Amino acid sequence: MILPVIAYGDPVLRKVGVEITKDHPGLKDIISDMFETMYKALGVGLAAPQIGKSIRLFVIDTKPFTEKNEDDDEFTDEERLQLAGFKKVFINAKIIEEKGEEWDFNEGCLSIPKIREDVFRKPKIRIKYVDENFKSFDETYDGLIARVIQHEYDHIDGKLFTDKISPLRRRLLKGRLNDISKGNVKVDYKMKFPVKK
Ligand code: NI
Repeated sequence: MILPVIAYGDPVLRKVGVEITKDHPGLKDIISDMFETMYKALGVGLAAPQIGKSIRLFVIDTKPFTEKNEDDDEFTDEERLQLAGFKKVFINAKIIEEKGEEWDFNEGCLSIPKIREDVFRKPKIRIKYVDENFKSFDETYDGLIARVIQHEYDHIDGKLFTDKISPLRRRLLKGRLNDISKGNVKVDYKMKFPVKK
C-alpha cells in the first residue's frame, strides 16, 4: 500500500525513534509499504518517521542512482554494480563510527520536495543493525551508500538534512520550507502536510 509521505514541519519528523522488537505489530506490512511508497516517489531511501511512525526503521534501495546516469562516468563499473544491488532494511541501527574527511553531496528528501542542498558528511561509517529477520549485522560502508544510510539514520534520530546547511542558506530557504508545511508545493506523490490551508 502506498502511504502519504509526511512533509517538513510535522513534529513526527523531529522525534527520536524508538527501538522495535521482532513482534512489532504489522512489521512486515510496514516494511513492504515503505518500499512501495519509496519506489512510487522515486526515492532511494525512506525512514519510518516519514510515514508517521516514530520507530528505528529505514529502507534503502540505491538502484535508481545507476539508472539515472547510464552513460556518464559518475560511477566506476564496480560502484555501479554495488549501487544496483543495494536493497536493505535497517532496524534498530546504531552508527558506531564515522570517519574520514567530510565531502559534500547534493541531497534531497521526500519530506522536503523540490529542495536540494549540498551537505557535508564523513565518507566512512560503521553501523550495527538488524535486518527484517532480526539477523544482526556489523558493517562498514563508504561513498554514496554510506551517504544514503547517514541521511536515513538522521531521520530516525529526528534530524533533517536542512539542519546541516549553513544558517544563511537555511534563512534563505525558510519561505519555501514554510510553503512545504502548508502544502504549497507541487509533488507527484502522495504527501501529508502538517499545516491546514
Ligand atoms: Ni529524507
